[in-house]
Amino acid sequence: MTDNGSDNGKQRRMSGGKPSAPKRGRKTKKMDKSNATRMMTHKVKTARGRKMSSKLWIERQINDPYVKEAAIKGYRSRAAFKLIELDDKFDLIKPGYRIVDLGCAPGGWLQIAQKRGASEIVGIDLLEVEAVPDVDILEMDFMHDDAPEKIKELLGGDPDLVMSDLAANTTGHRNTDHLKTIALVEAAAEFAMETLRPGGNFVAKVFQGGTEGELLARLKASFKSVRHAKPKSSRAGSPEIYLVALGFKRRKRKEEARDK
Ligand SMILES: C[S@@+](CC[C@H](N)C(=O)[O-])C[C@H]1O[C@@H](n2cnc3c(N)ncnc32)[C@H](O)[C@@H]1O
Repeated sequence: MTDNGSDNGKQRRMSGGKPSAPKRGRKTKKMDKSNATRMMTHKVKTARGRKMSSKLWIERQINDPYVKEAAIKGYRSRAAFKLIELDDKFDLIKPGYRIVDLGCAPGGWLQIAQKRGASEIVGIDLLEVEAVPDVDILEMDFMHDDAPEKIKELLGGDPDLVMSDLAANTTGHRNTDHLKTIALVEAAAEFAMETLRPGGNFVAKVFQGGTEGELLARLKASFKSVRHAKPKSSRAGSPEIYLVALGFKRRKRKEEARDK
């Protein structure tokens, strides 16, 4: 586990790994019967009326070490571990930073940004988010015309980091879901390029295959480096990966954009 309880002490590996098993050593207690029970994989009986897919989801949640670890550490989501790993590897969050979290509910990334020293944090989501002390939360669509101005006003300036863990509600129809996701990633990238201060960073969830060609080319032209990474805490079966764009070069002036 990269998060060893002191989040300010970043580790430079994408080890991110599963919550570590107790080290075998003199101090390790002999496993008693109650411990053994706790470590068993739990199966959920298929209740009448419960769909197989929801039974599997519940089973996966119960047996997921990151879900357990998030509960122990008081994180609102297992997604918190993904940001921990990404930050350990790419040094995204620095003390004093102004950070925007697009699609912040239920708030795991907000908690990590705060623990790692950001001074101003604004989260935005379509859903209501339980308050996080000293964090501003907007309940609105980040694609709304007013969103960039509202966010900047709350931050007190241009963001140093735009983070996006946005996920569209899935319809179950593969192509539709893929298109919805691409639209969100593109909008998040636009948002970042419109608001970031020069030198700022952008991290966003994208899906397998990485960032689409045209967008990738624009990001490469606008940032010093563009990488993709899959944190260990991202489920192996999930098509999600993360785009990390570092060192925003400069904002396109409105006139330049119009001339194109
Ligand atoms: C995977 S969750 C984010 C989890 C979060 N990073 C955490 O650590 O708790 C994705 C969120 O994106 C939000 N979302 C999707 N489209 C949005 C939009 N257009 N504007 C704002 N939020 C949006 C969803 O409501 C959902 O809460």
